[in-house]
Amino acid sequence: MEQYIMKGGNPLAGEITISGAKNAALGILAASIMTDEDVVIENLPDVRDINVLLEAIQEIGASVNRINRHTVKINASNIHEVSVDDDYIRKIRASYYFIGALLGKYKSAQVPLPGGCNIGSRPIDLHIKGFRALGAKVDIERGAVLAHAIDLVGSHIYLDKVSVGATINIMMAASLADGQTTIENVAKEPHVVDVANFLNSMGANIKGAGTDIIRIKGVRRLHGTEYSIIPDQIEAGTFMCAAAATRGDITVKNVIPKHLESISAKLLEIGCEVVELDDAVRVVGKPRQHHTNINTLPYPGFPTDMQPQMAVTLALTEGTSIVTESIFENRFKYVDELARMGGCIKVEGNVAIISGVNGFTGAQVNAPDLRAGAALVIAGLAAEGYTVVDEIGYIQRGYEHFERKLRSLGAVIEKVDSDKEAQKFKLKIG
Ligand code: UD1
Repeated sequence: MEQYIMKGGNPLAGEITISGAKNAALGILAASIMTDEDVVIENLPDVRDINVLLEAIQEIGASVNRINRHTVKINASNIHEVSVDDDYIRKIRASYYFIGALLGKYKSAQVPLPGGCNIGSRPIDLHIKGFRALGAKVDIERGAVLAHAIDLVGSHIYLDKVSVGATINIMMAASLADGQTTIENVAKEPHVVDVANFLNSMGANIKGAGTDIIRIKGVRRLHGTEYSIIPDQIEAGTFMCAAAATRGDITVKNVIPKHLESISAKLLEIGCEVVELDDAVRVVGKPRQHHTNINTLPYPGFPTDMQPQMAVTLALTEGTSIVTESIFENRFKYVDELARMGGCIKVEGNVAIISGVNGFTGAQVNAPDLRAGAALVIAGLAAEGYTVVDEIGYIQRGYEHFERKLRSLGAVIEKVDSDKEAQKFKLKIG
């Protein structure tokens, strides 16, 4: 079983180039099967969830040509299956995007109910409500979503809750429906806008992405395109928190600073120096930092996917911070792990009360999910002594070469797959 072993205490410093956004790439890859022409996608992050999705695309008959690690050419003219299924695809949340993509193009889709990180109950009722409003018959049978339509017809859809997945999924299907669709109370996340831009580059007619209302005029067909994915807001935010927590000095490059504003604002509040450049943000973690409060909200609010990394950062500041998790109910699973390192956090319902401590001490901990896993790595790099993070498969789902990037900033970290290798690392480092 692979683990990260690290010796903490080094302030991380230097420049790091941020990869393409995983959550944008998942929507864009699924949408790429909606045309029979070639689609070239650049700035693809080389992470597990993306590779699983690419395998699934190949499995249903599309050709997937990996031009290099970050560029792929997809041609979906030979799709022979509207049923997507394998053990891996069941595990990733974004498998649900195949419903919107296949339903839009073939008016039929059969996709297992999605898995993904266990961060709370993750229903897809809003996705289904949208597909039904477009005229599809949607049933759930034997663990799979079955969606069929004679014709998809534009409709007026109100989302009862702001949902990234439902917004993107309905937008995809509606792109190839007859007539106009209006979706109200949509998600405004940067990756929603990126998927909309991608679909528009294929000939879709989507307006309003990035605002509360998206209007889509259905088109008959989509054509090929070449498209480059936006930088990953959450990967960038994770390195920004690493700078703060280790009292380091990191410049995240290849980012869109606007997407990072809620994170930058919180780091400024606790006393870090944050400098915004054209396509980079520099964070200098000051020795004394103070508490603040955060509340996760849909974009442009503070992202739930940054909550664990920011909480770990707050756990090393002076005073008491309050973190309210408003999106998912099960996102504090790192708290018990952090307690093993000296963290002092009390959870009451969806609120974490963090009493800042002077430092962490290294321990063996488990990554409970993707972002919590990354947060524990930050904790380990800020801690005194050795930390081992288990279950790093979660982290590899969403961070490209995490340990390599951290090493380039001065982190003493290694990926190992046995206790023997971990011992070797300790002997080497001393
Ligand atoms: C996406 C991201 C995930 C991020 C989340 C919120 C991907 C692959 N994943 O997840 O990393 O944490 O956005 O920014 O992009 N909900 C319903 N019914 C639905 C759909 C959602 O009640 O049909 C609820 C969810 O339980 C949650 C809230 O709406 O409380 C937001 O979820 P949503 O934005 O849909 O998250 P995902 O798309 O699953």
